[in-house]
Formats: sequence, structure tokens, C-alpha cells
Amino acid sequence: MLTTGSQIFQAPTQTAETWWRSAVFYEVYIRSFQDSNGDGIGDLRGIQQRLPYLKQLGIDAVWITPFYPSPMADFGYDVSDYTGVDSSFGTMEDFDRLLQSAHDLGMRIVIDMVLNHTSDEHPWFAESRSSRTNPKRDWYIWRDAQPDGSPPNNWTSFFGGSAWQWDAHTGQYYLHLFLDRQPDLNWRNPEVIQAMDTVLRFWLDKGVDGFRLDAINFLVKHEAFPDMPVVTNATGGDLVQYHVYVNNQPELHPLLQNVRRVLESYPGERVLIGETGTLKAPELSQFYGAGLDEIHLPMIVLPLHTAWQAQAMRACLLEFYAGLPQGASPHFVFSNHDDKRLITRYGFEHHRSIAMLLLTLLGSPILYYGDEIAMCDTYVPPEKRVDTAGMIDPDHYPGRDPNRTPMQWDGSTNAGFTGTAVEAWLPVNDNRSTINVAVQEHDPESTLTFYQTLLRLRSDSRALREGSIQFLEDCGDVLAYVRECDDERLLIAINFGGAAHILDLSALTDHVHCVLSSRMQRPEAVSVAEVALNAYESVLFRLASNKEG
Ligand code: GLC
Repeated sequence: MLTTGSQIFQAPTQTAETWWRSAVFYEVYIRSFQDSNGDGIGDLRGIQQRLPYLKQLGIDAVWITPFYPSPMADFGYDVSDYTGVDSSFGTMEDFDRLLQSAHDLGMRIVIDMVLNHTSDEHPWFAESRSSRTNPKRDWYIWRDAQPDGSPPNNWTSFFGGSAWQWDAHTGQYYLHLFLDRQPDLNWRNPEVIQAMDTVLRFWLDKGVDGFRLDAINFLVKHEAFPDMPVVTNATGGDLVQYHVYVNNQPELHPLLQNVRRVLESYPGERVLIGETGTLKAPELSQFYGAGLDEIHLPMIVLPLHTAWQAQAMRACLLEFYAGLPQGASPHFVFSNHDDKRLITRYGFEHHRSIAMLLLTLLGSPILYYGDEIAMCDTYVPPEKRVDTAGMIDPDHYPGRDPNRTPMQWDGSTNAGFTGTAVEAWLPVNDNRSTINVAVQEHDPESTLTFYQTLLRLRSDSRALREGSIQFLEDCGDVLAYVRECDDERLLIAINFGGAAHILDLSALTDHVHCVLSSRMQRPEAVSVAEVALNAYESVLFRLASNKEG
């Protein structure tokens, strides 16, 4: 007989202003979503055309990856003008129309904001590198070489190689935690803070609903630039660096409070989502701010790096819920444009269970475009690879092209992403004839229908949006938890294993009713003492009464 085994975690109180606490977000990787002008690259008008699809799916807010002018060394994450639109993505008028259309549909738009670094083609950097005495020299991080000419310290770039690039013209190195074409800004300089405040205000004046702050945990570097500790990794041999002197430095937090103040000087509640790295709960909690006055939603990416195994996932989630500050809302990210797609990472048999978990946890979820139709990574032949970050040291940092291929709207040559005679910027997956929106939207048992049904249930259920969560005791390969609000009580049971399971819920309730199964078809009436789960099945049940409490 199963009983609830964990502490009960309550959701913070919600109001219309705090819409983001339970909103469903959707990441649009702009280059790959929808091309409207036949150049093989997705764009703002394309997103606008597809808003009704997202509305129908049940999405509340869309996060759009960077669309600012950029030399595209890191496909937009190298910004050369923070208040413009790259011509490959459209015009500022296109952005204004997209924002208006989203608002007309009752949806929100969150834009990506890259504060840690600019492009090396940004005019600020051009000035900074022009001479040692230029007024903007100190906007970036410049250091002398060591006496033997080597870089100032042992810091490495996340994409591989040294984090320092030599500049022969001025005879110093500059710091770049990512590509050498992405020099890091010096956030200890008040003029940088001021310049970025102006950028944030430009977009807030336009009415954007928030920002996703890119690589925000790295904004401030240790003042003394000490060497990073180096250790031997688990497989032996390779040396791995802990980026302790660039990650979550104490001086970062007043800067985040300042960004929050800028946001709050505008009417309505706008949201700050933060890419804060793979941090565990105690460290991640710091990004909410001591008085919840920093980032509303630091991204919890740990489940993304956790084995798809019931006990590991239960432990990871329990640790998170227990470690979050009072009043903080969790924000779960299981997939994105930097990591393998869900199915490629965990296996096809689990893909609906992943959706069930993500969309029924307490907190706000974010989907990555194509998750809802079960897209997987695409093989990209060497001659078509374009992600330079993956070309420096592929063993250390593999390229991200396979998980960024075009959205599959239909079964045609380019999957409806762009014209059939056009070459898309990345190859379209060969599985487009079955894995596509057009086929799945009319199939009552498709993955798309499953996502839509689940999202509708979520939107109609206070228990799922605002209810408490309590995990059942450890039950082998099954992860089970109860979501509860007022007299609505739901139980979610996810079978991670390849064998069937019988759950005895008689200690919890005297009546169980099946609401939705990952198999779509299933009898609604269930015997309380013998609730059967098929291999890899996940089910949302409605429980009648609370026997325990
Ligand atoms: C973030 C982005 C990633 C980008 C990096 C540098 O991690 O998600 O795509 O390459 O920042 O801007």
C-alpha cells in the first residue's frame, strides 16, 4: 500500500500580476522556427505567422532567441547592436507587429538579453580595442601577458581553448568566456551598467514582457583573476577546470537587483528568467535574491543533467523543492538550443513521460520548439555543420547543430519551414514525413495531441497550476506525486521502467479515475488497490478523497 512519503511543498500565492509563476513558456530558436521570405533562415514574420499554432497548443509566453544585428559567429549570441534587428530576421516593424499580435492573442513575449559579452564587431569593442587610452578601453577586460608572453592566467573558454585572445595592435589580451568573437564586458565599470540599463529600457518601452538573461551567472569575474583549480576528470587524463572565479561572484547580486529595479519601474509585471548554469538548489536560490528581489525565474536545468531514472529524478526534485527560498517559483528547463533533444538524450519510449513530468510539476515549465511533436536530433554531415563553438574541441564541446534543425510543420521537402526549392540553413530531419505538425494535429493519439490535451488540463486545473506537491514514497521504477488544491486532488504516476507495475493506492483514496495516459487510450475506471501501469506509461489520475489527511 503506497503512502505519501515526502514533505508537502506549497506553491506561492498567485495573482494576475504574477502570471509567470505557472505560465507555460516555449523557446523559439528563431533561425529554425519558420522562414517567411525564402532565404532558408527563420525570422520574426515567420514567428508571427505561427502564433495561432502556439496559442492553440496552450502556450502562455514565447521566449525568442536573439534577433539583434550580429555577425552570427554564435548565431545571434554575439550582438553588435542591442537596439536593432538583424536583416536576416526582419525589421523593427516586424518585431513591433509580432509583439502586438502576441498581445492580441493574450500571449507574452520574452526576449533574450546577452549582457555578459558583445560581438567583437560591436562599436563599443571597436573603440575599446582601438587604443589603450580609449575611453571605452575599460568597458572590456584587458590584461597584460605574462613575462613569457603567455595569457594572464589559466582560464579556459567554455567552448575550448584559452579564454584570452591576444590583440597585437594594443599588446594586451582580452577575456572571452565563450568564442574569441564574444569579448566579455567589464561589469565593474559603471558606464557598462548605465549603457545596458538604456538597452533594457529601449525594449521595455516597446512593451516586451520580460528578458531571458543569457549566461547571467558569469557577469562578474574575481577581482584578482587567480588561476582556476584544475582536477583530473573521472575518466582520467583530461584536466577539467572549475569556473569558480567567474561563476556567481558576490558582486553579481547588486547588479541583478539593479536590473530588477529597472524592470519594476515599468507598469505590469514583467519577468526575468535567468540562465544561471547547472547550479544546485542552495546556489541557485541566491539568484532569486535575499528578498526575492533579483531574478524571478532562475532556470532549473538540473533534471536535464539527471539520469532518466525514477529514484534519481525523485531525489533531484525533492532536493530542489526543499532548497528553494520561501515564496520562490521553480522554473524547469528540460531541453533547449544548447543540449541534445529529449528523445535523443533519454530515448523515444520516454518522451511522453518527460512531458507528463515537466507539465505537472509545481512551477513553470519551458518547452523547446519541436518537443511537442517528438522531434529528435538530426544527423548533420560534416560539410553542413555551422556551429563554430563545436569546431574548436568537439570532444570537449560538441556542436549544437543536430538539436537546432528546422521545425517540422509538414511532410514536404523542407517540412514547411521554408520553400521547397530553398536550402534551409541546417538540414531538415528525414523523419519529417511522420514527425510533423500537419500529420499529428489530426491524429487523436499523436504526441502533439497528447501535449495539447495535457496543456489544456493544466490550464483548467488549479491543482496543477497552483496546488501543492507531495511525492509518494519511493516506489521502484515509478515516480508518483500528488498535486492538490482546494478539493481537487490529482496523482501523477510515471513508470520509468520497461516492466508493468501495480500500485496500491488504497491508503490514499477510495476512488481513482484515469484522466490522461501517455497511451491516450485507457479505461477510466480503475480499482484503487490495483492501479496498473504499463511499461513506460505515465498517467494522470483524479483521486476522490484524502484518506490521509
Ligand atoms: C548561452 C546560450 C548559448 C550561447 C552562450 C554564449 O549559454 O544559451 O547558446 O552560445 O550563452 O552567449
